[in-house]
Order: sequence, then C-alpha cells, then structure tokens
Amino acid sequence: MKIIKTSKDMRSWSDAMHTEGKTIAFVPTMGFLHEGHLSLMDIGKSLCSTLAVSIFVNPTQFGANEDLDAYPTNIERDLELAKKHGAQAIFLPDKSDIYPAGYQSYVSLEHLPAHLCGLSRPEHFRGVTTVVTKLFNIVRPDTAVFGSKDYQQLQIIKQLNKDLDFNINIVGAPIVRESDGLAMSSRNAYLKPEERESALSLSRSRLMAESDVKSGEKSAATIKSKIKKFIESFDHTKIDYISICNPETLDEIDIIEGKTLLALAVHVGKARLIDNIILEK
Ligand code: PAJ
Repeated sequence: MKIIKTSKDMRSWSDAMHTEGKTIAFVPTMGFLHEGHLSLMDIGKSLCSTLAVSIFVNPTQFGANEDLDAYPTNIERDLELAKKHGAQAIFLPDKSDIYPAGYQSYVSLEHLPAHLCGLSRPEHFRGVTTVVTKLFNIVRPDTAVFGSKDYQQLQIIKQLNKDLDFNINIVGAPIVRESDGLAMSSRNAYLKPEERESALSLSRSRLMAESDVKSGEKSAATIKSKIKKFIESFDHTKIDYISICNPETLDEIDIIEGKTLLALAVHVGKARLIDNIILEK
C-alpha cells in the first residue's frame, strides 16, 4: 500500500494506474475507520482492479461550534485496516495542500442541501461538495463508494456527479451496524456508557416505523409524533429532526405511499447521531 501525501503524487498514481489499464475505486473518509468504512472498501475492491482511500478531516464541512478539533483520529490503526481491506493507495493530504493560502472556490448545490442536516448545519454540505469535487479531480476514480448512513450526502454526491459531468460510477452502500443496532459512526466514540442505551433510540425508532407502515399506517404526522415521544423518553437525547420525505427530492411528505425516507438526527450527549430507513408498505 502506497502512502501518498500530496495531490501531485496522488494524480501521478492515478495516471499510472490508468496507463496500466486499471480501474480505480475510491473511498473518501475522515478516518477513525470502523466496519462501515471497511465495507465501502470491500465493495470498491470488488468493482475495480485497484482501490484508493483518502483520510482527510475536512475543515470546511464543520460549523464554527462543531467538533473539528475534537474529531477522533488514529492514523496508525487506520493504515493497518485500510491495507488489510485492499487499499493500494492511501491519500493523506495536508490541509494546506487541499486549501492553500488564498483558496476561494466552493461548490454548492441549489436544493438538496436545504433539507434534513442542512437546516441545522448550513455550511456543511458546501464543504462536503467542495472537498469531494477536489478529491474526484485529484484521484480521478472510475467508481466511488459512499455509505447510505449519510443518506443526504449520498444523494448530493449523485447529483453533483451528474450536474458536473464527473462520469464516476457512484455506489451507495448499506448501513453497517453494531450488534445492538446502533449505526456505526466515528462519533460513537463520544458516547459515555450511560448514553449508549439512549443512542439505540434511533435504530429502534426506524424499526418501529417500519413495522407501523407494514401494518398500514400512512400518516407521517402520526409516525413522527410516536417517534418523538419514544426518543424523548430516553435520557440525554435532544432531537434535531425527524423527517419523513421523498427519497429523491428530500421534500417532506404527509402521506406514506411507495418508497419513503425516514431520516433522524438526534444529539445524545456530545454526539450528534443520524440514522435512516426506506419505508415501504
Ligand atoms: P466519514 O464520516 O468518515 O464517512 C466516510 C464514508 O463512510 C461515507 O460515505 C459514510 O457514509 C460512510 N459510512 C460511515 N458510517 C457508515 C456506516 N455505519 N455504514 C456504512 N457506511 C458508513 O462522510 C464523510 O466522512 C465525509 O463527509 C467525506 C465524504 C469523506 C467528505 O469529507
């Protein structure tokens, strides 16, 4: 596995791979890798002849009062895990390489970011689409794999890819969970032992809603109010949003018919956790 620290070297690696006739799968991450990230690498590897992974804690996607400085890292462990999961190149750029002095170009979408997480994190997706655009231009992958845990992010990247003609095969991967149902996240590291049970209120809510919809419940308001009561019955929880919406446009809907997205964001202690499910009768 090659450890690559500059955009210039990353481009050269990508050029060399393409010259050799190889296809490149790419998994961008912010590190502190867990089984969720590793599953994306496994999928990428199965689709292409070589795999590149990036680890970069992207400052532009964190709001002023968010956890940029506290974001967990463990580079040594990450390198070992990425290698074990078939990464042939690992890109670890410096902040000053991605955002050199005088940097001033940002990429933002018109509609999709104005929903769900974008409401409480207004700058977040502009940072994500900017860094992903840069990473796509540097790595020039054939396929890029993103997790559906960050459902809105995945939709935004698909739209970005289409709108800006990247022509990359964007693959969405299923949510990987702990054995108790908690969606894996680097931010789970913030949970204190007494908050862990409360964190399960998200994954349990989605199962509750799934079963209600299967038994004929169609009212989004009824399901949302049941989930609200349920989550609020746990200590340490503060709901950011409970959304029932169109899975393509992310517009809120009132009546559940056909495929519908239930998306949740809840603060549990210091951790802001998200989860989602596609509801379908
Ligand atoms: P990060 O939070 O490190 O996540 C990297 C990738 O792993 C994302 O595509 C995310 O959806 C996926 N992922 C995280 N937890 C997962 C889980 N439990 N199951 C499946 N996939 C999971 O998302 C980012 O970084 C950044 O915004 C990034 C795209 C790298 C841009 O900076």
